[in-house]
Amino acid sequence: MIGPRKSTGLEKFIDSSAQSHPAGRLVVFEGIDGTGKSTQVRLLAERLEAEGRSVTLSREPTDGPFGQKLRQSMVEGRLSRDEELRLFEDDRRHHVETLIKPTLARGGVVILDRYYFSTMAYQGARGFDPAEIRQRNESFAPVPDAVIILEIPVEAAMQRIGVRDGSGNTFEKKENLEACAAIFDALKDDFIHRIDASGTPAEVHAAVRQSLSALWP
Ligand code: TYD
Repeated sequence: MIGPRKSTGLEKFIDSSAQSHPAGRLVVFEGIDGTGKSTQVRLLAERLEAEGRSVTLSREPTDGPFGQKLRQSMVEGRLSRDEELRLFEDDRRHHVETLIKPTLARGGVVILDRYYFSTMAYQGARGFDPAEIRQRNESFAPVPDAVIILEIPVEAAMQRIGVRDGSGNTFEKKENLEACAAIFDALKDDFIHRIDASGTPAEVHAAVRQSLSALWP
């Protein structure tokens, strides 16, 4: 029989690795455009703060230099697929180092509006292999404790985008969103929670909070 594991003296280093972040919690919202992520991110942050937790909200693309360039491309015209992929990953590296890791290390809750699952979906829809994108990103970006995927039919999402800003940009075309939705559908990890986002914001928020009850009973 194998006895209890002997201490190696390295446990404290292993415990504080980027991948386990035992002190903080990382919760990510994902889904195609028009599913109401930003509303749900805000509602969850307000709720957790009201429960007395320290919450940091952020989003990708970020408002940093790489993120700004990406947002500009959404208005002015899409970059080449290689340049786009590189910028999303540079933006994320910067985000991980300056905000995500430091907040988790001090025991805070980080809530993100999009993360590397969006790169798998959107740059995957442009022809890159989602599994390779994931592997590369997980070599530098902490794996979340929970990923909430908000789901509504593509048609309904398009309608919401239309109501929101008149006309979709190139990321928001129907075919593209269908390809992205298929990649989100294929994610199967234990930390993935799929939520029907067709209800009212309050109904969707209640389902989100319920799905996270294992993190915060
Ligand atoms: P979005 O969250 O929709 O920003 P906003 O609410 O300001 O419109 O993100 C903008 C777009 O960026 C969205 O269409 C998805 C795309 N995107 C990628 O293509 N790859 C990524 O890795 C990320 C994070 C976003």
